[in-house]
Amino acid sequence: MKTLRVELGDNSYPIIVGTDLLNRVGELLTPHTKSNKALIVSDAFVQGRYMPIVQQSLEDAGLDVCTIEVPTGEESKSLVQFSRVQDSLVDHQLDRGSMVVALGGGVIGDLAGFTAAVYMRGIPYVQIPTTLQAQVDASVGGKTAINHPKGKNLIGAFHQPKLVLIDVQTLETLPQRDIRAGLIEVIKMGVIRDEPLFEMVEENLDAILNVDSAILSQMIAAACINKAEIVAKDEKESGLRMVLNYGHTFGHALEAVTHYNRYRHGEAVSIGLNCAAQLATNLGMLSETDFQRQRTLLKRARLPITFPPDITPEAMCEAMYLDKKTLGGKLRLILPTRIGEVVIRDDIDDIDVLEAISQCF
Ligand SMILES: NC(=O)c1ccc[n+]([C@@H]2O[C@H](COP(=O)([O-])OP(=O)(O)OC[C@H]3O[C@@H](n4cnc5c(N)ncnc54)[C@H](O)[C@@H]3O)[C@@H](O)[C@H]2O)c1
Ligand SMILES: [Zn+2]
Repeated sequence: MKTLRVELGDNSYPIIVGTDLLNRVGELLTPHTKSNKALIVSDAFVQGRYMPIVQQSLEDAGLDVCTIEVPTGEESKSLVQFSRVQDSLVDHQLDRGSMVVALGGGVIGDLAGFTAAVYMRGIPYVQIPTTLQAQVDASVGGKTAINHPKGKNLIGAFHQPKLVLIDVQTLETLPQRDIRAGLIEVIKMGVIRDEPLFEMVEENLDAILNVDSAILSQMIAAACINKAEIVAKDEKESGLRMVLNYGHTFGHALEAVTHYNRYRHGEAVSIGLNCAAQLATNLGMLSETDFQRQRTLLKRARLPITFPPDITPEAMCEAMYLDKKTLGGKLRLILPTRIGEVVIRDDIDDIDVLEAISQCF
């Protein structure tokens, strides 16, 4: 078991990474909260598989526990499910001395976190992420949100958890496709600022895909340390934190163009990473060797690197300019200069963006 820390002054919190942690949730959590009542939020799959053990552990630690289940999938980041969770908090009379436990993937973390952020102007919550995506990315950093019919994550708040508890053994039940899609955020982090982490993924790819818990613990902890350092320097995304969007301007646009129902987020971002690196190579910022190194790893991880033939580069460009990360009409892009370093650029010509996209078909 490894304990890391997100340093945010009064809002600082630990991230615990290890195995066999779910049955110790109560014991591990009590030093970090004074709560005596908890609402566990999870989705239909997680509820059946992991809720009982977490509930038992919290009850053994003396907490009064209630639970709520929402349907699986992105649709649960809705006003309807938000309202249901709020109703449950009211019905069970939770107050500022209570807490919300987000047990599940990024959808649950975002929904439960946002609910905790606004209920009684904010009550404590803890994250127990059960997908690789949520363990290496969504659960750390305090960004919470639900979707609006007109856009993803449009209704949200920054609200830091009291604790993030990552039991890597939960990944044993996660489908391979979700393991690979979650891995993209680790590869992304490697390219942004941690060449040794990138190399670690290159060297241990088979073990990672085989859900080797020792390797996964090491990799997830390394990814979380990076995220924690970035968040500590820029909690509210006014500058540095934007580097986490590497590959995402392209990825978000592809998700939108394909109506959020074809790709996992990580798969769309994988194509985005390849496209951003292609652009950086075209502009002479990234060596052909490093471009190929990233491309090779994505391919080995069986992640997609090219756009589907039924969309056009123009449609992609249009969607990118609609993305909320656009600044004053110019795209803000995170471009790699080597494996382990990126720069933020908002002066790239549209024609160069279009050219790079066209090359990735
Ligand atoms: N807040 C942030 O900073 C942040 C960052 C990145 C992504 N996100 C959000 O995260 C969400 C995506 O997260 P996700 O990929 O975890 O999706 P998800 O929460 O929908 O989980 C994916 C699927 O995996 C299932 N699942 C969860 N744990 C499992 C397990 N251990 N074994 C088997 N199945 C399991 C779920 O039931 C679900 O069907 C998006 O809504 C995205 O916007 C948030
Ligand atoms: Zn992402």
